[in-house]
Amino acid sequence: MNKKYCIAIIVVIVVAAIIGTVLGILLTSPSADENEVAIRAFTINHETNTFEMDGKPFRYVAGSFHYFRALPQTWRQKLKTLKAGGLNAVDIYIQWSLHNPEDGVYHWDGIANIQQFVEIAEEEGLYVILRPGPYICAEIDNGGLPYWLARKYPGIKVRTKDENYLFEVGKWYSMLMPIFEKHLYGNGGNIIMVQIENEYGAFGACDEVYKEFLRDETFRYTNDKAILFTTDRPIGDELKCGQVDDVFVTTDFGLSNFTEVQSHFRKLRDIQPTGPLVNTEFYTGWLTHWQEPNARRGAADLAKTLDYMLLLGANVDFYMYFGGTNFGFWAGANDWGIGRYMADITSYDYDAPMDEAGNPTAKYRTFREIIQKYIKVSDESDIPEKQKTMSLRALTLEPINSILSSEGRSTLGSRQTKSSTLLTFEQMRQFSGFILYETELPKFTRDPSNLVITDLRDRALIYVDGEFVGAMSRENYISTLPISANFGSRLSILVENQGRINFQIADDYKGIRDRVRVQSFHNSQQSYTTLTDWIITGYPFDNYADLEALLKSSKEDYRIDASGNALDGPIVFYTEFNIDEDEEIADTYWDTTDWDKGFIFVNGFNLGRYWSVGPQITMYIPKDILKYGKNEIYVVELQKAPLNFKMNFLNGPIFINDEAV
Ligand SMILES: *[C@@H]1O[C@H](CO)[C@@H](O)[C@H](O)[C@H]1NC(C)=O
Repeated sequence: MNKKYCIAIIVVIVVAAIIGTVLGILLTSPSADENEVAIRAFTINHETNTFEMDGKPFRYVAGSFHYFRALPQTWRQKLKTLKAGGLNAVDIYIQWSLHNPEDGVYHWDGIANIQQFVEIAEEEGLYVILRPGPYICAEIDNGGLPYWLARKYPGIKVRTKDENYLFEVGKWYSMLMPIFEKHLYGNGGNIIMVQIENEYGAFGACDEVYKEFLRDETFRYTNDKAILFTTDRPIGDELKCGQVDDVFVTTDFGLSNFTEVQSHFRKLRDIQPTGPLVNTEFYTGWLTHWQEPNARRGAADLAKTLDYMLLLGANVDFYMYFGGTNFGFWAGANDWGIGRYMADITSYDYDAPMDEAGNPTAKYRTFREIIQKYIKVSDESDIPEKQKTMSLRALTLEPINSILSSEGRSTLGSRQTKSSTLLTFEQMRQFSGFILYETELPKFTRDPSNLVITDLRDRALIYVDGEFVGAMSRENYISTLPISANFGSRLSILVENQGRINFQIADDYKGIRDRVRVQSFHNSQQSYTTLTDWIITGYPFDNYADLEALLKSSKEDYRIDASGNALDGPIVFYTEFNIDEDEEIADTYWDTTDWDKGFIFVNGFNLGRYWSVGPQITMYIPKDILKYGKNEIYVVELQKAPLNFKMNFLNGPIFINDEAV
């Protein structure tokens, strides 16, 4: 350094010191350390290719944890476990449909108390990576978008510049984003990053107007107090398609060898030559659908990928670190093409480092070993012990009634709607559950004839004169059913919504979208009669009091055959049992073996769907919904119950057909 520069710098320092002192005297506040406040910022250094926190290099190792998949009473314990795994940040999606389930209705309490979640994370010493979507995929119904958008604006083009969509997103952000304002890093909080859209490149629309709208709409609330970013897969042009001007780009990928890790990050470098490397979704396992093997991903190979990324200086966010449960009817579905609609299972265990109950697994310890080579991790003694479990004594349930009986209809069903055409769930203003479509069959000229449902969403149980005659399924590509003339004339079709598509979403209206016909052959010609004059009844199962009302009014108006088959409609089962003060309440798992398909409420809480086809065989029952004194269980079994009506409980989960993916 030459002398002239040296003097210039000294002059600058002296002047700065004088100004600083004067300002210090003018602005002295007894509580705040103004030097610290002045430099509080989370930024990007494009020379060192790192993040900087208050001017110092910073790297995050974060874990995804969806608050909507764990009971709020358990958030703190789970965040402590996540932190003890060596992580310094938690990544959260926001599920719009949870907070805004109907137009104009907002929830912010209990499991929807997102502000409390962020505050607990802060108290536990974790930074937050906020991913508000509004589309989040996440294997959640409709990718987190509220179902009512499609009702209010038929044909709406979500995730594009469709003006109705932009209007609703703007309105939603005006409700949501102010909650986070004081929690942004630059405002003194713990939120360091905020995502724009979610793997938008994979959607293929590359809509510049929408991307810029969402960036500006987000910036309105974040104001440079946190870093805005996008996440896209290092596949084809997706990174480019999802990129927005002035927004930091990150990528996502799972199990990879060193060559592949380098190649993925090179694709990121191609469109963003400097700045820190970030993998926002490092897949610790994978999602699972019903009717397929249970996805597993080995810890040892993943640990190598993790090591490579950290060695290259990258920031890593595990997806998922804790997966949790798709409670109620929130599980989504995927559609990989014709006949490949597949509903997601209720468990979102994901083979993540923390299991469905939130306990550390072997994978957790393997990852922690790698992480501690690179960043300071908390003491090993901070790792919580595995929580206790119990196998609750076996319970015998009592069949209460069929949901299609007159009591079932009056307590669980909506008011009947008459319509010449079939109305969808959306038109019936019903998020999920079931819709019953009923009409008269024409007089058959050929026996049997085929009943044909066009565009069934998603599964139908079919009854003629109240008797079960068969099922149809979108998943299994079954849309016809032979019906004999002597079966009767009254046709009842009970359609189950198995979850809206969460990836590549488009118009997944539920119910029967097209029509129902009777098909027969005359002189080698097919002839069709389209059925009309429908009577439509909704069964949303979104009000626990309805089940209690059924229990009260029940006249045992149901039939079960010698094999346990429900003959005239799904049957509601009930039991109550006591837990004494001297017993210990712990997590337990209902072993659904011998039950068939349905869902379960425990003490008023819908724990989600079960299905004998697997691979998920047990239903996780968190200890926090059990209580001392009287507990109540309702099971709605759609098809077939065990003959002794017994529920057995286990100490741990069962998944069948594990498959390495
Ligand atoms: C990395 O994986 C790719 C794709 O499976 C494979 O072609 C390549 O040979 C592997 N490279 C090394 C160094 O193992």
